[in-house]
Amino acid sequence: MNAKEGALIAGNWKDKNMTIAQALAWADAFNGFRPTSLLRPNLQLVLFPPATAIYPLRQRLLNLEHTKTMLEQGALAIGTQESSPAEGEKVRVSGSLHPNLLIDPEIGASYALLGHSERRLHFKETDELIAKRLGLAMKYGLKPVLCVGETLNERELGTAKDVVKRQLGILDALSPEIRQTMTIAYEPVWAIGTGKNADPSDANDMCGFVREVSRAKRVIYGGSVTSDKAAEFFKQPEIDGALPGGASEKANEFFGIAQAASNLL
Ligand code: PGA
Repeated sequence: MNAKEGALIAGNWKDKNMTIAQALAWADAFNGFRPTSLLRPNLQLVLFPPATAIYPLRQRLLNLEHTKTMLEQGALAIGTQESSPAEGEKVRVSGSLHPNLLIDPEIGASYALLGHSERRLHFKETDELIAKRLGLAMKYGLKPVLCVGETLNERELGTAKDVVKRQLGILDALSPEIRQTMTIAYEPVWAIGTGKNADPSDANDMCGFVREVSRAKRVIYGGSVTSDKAAEFFKQPEIDGALPGGASEKANEFFGIAQAASNLL
């Protein structure tokens, strides 16, 4: 990571683990670590809770001393894991969250997570669909965090870079200026939720490749990141932060990961 461009740490809370009560307890615990100590002009923290927890979580964060300051300063932001791909004069979609609802000031989402491998796998999200979600999210001012990464099979076949390049192909339609505002998360599928990390120098190599192809502002790494391993990744020059999932559901782990980044900035 490099202090000039800064870092982004985003917690990706999974679907069944964060009831509203759990999300509120997380907020209280996180605030208890006095997280304003992490404030750096170039460190951005983002939480991606399940949709049901976005509103109550943000209200709680706004009512706690440290997290309130962080939200008000923009150092902490809330994102959505779901946003609609479809819009048109006559288009009305059931079961989807349109970005217009998410940017409602009462909800206050400002980031959108897109292209996660679990969505590609379980919801059969194609690059084409992800491109539509991305376009609509950006049209409404949501900042995207686009996930890319190869499966174990693709890695063993030696096609990891080809796969990532194909997934990043959806950026071809975007101007260089827009790309330069974006965050891409390189997440090898075999490292997600498995406790197996990519080797930091391999992850660095892949993140460098992602940066070259995407020409994005930030490239972060995801896949079983925990507080004790985070610094090893953040010391790599091509890795600008992390997208922890399971670990981020524990306030102390998320704080520890953010602290590892803050210490290097
Ligand atoms: P993990 O999840 O940290 O639990 O591997 C990462 C992710 O899903 O983004």
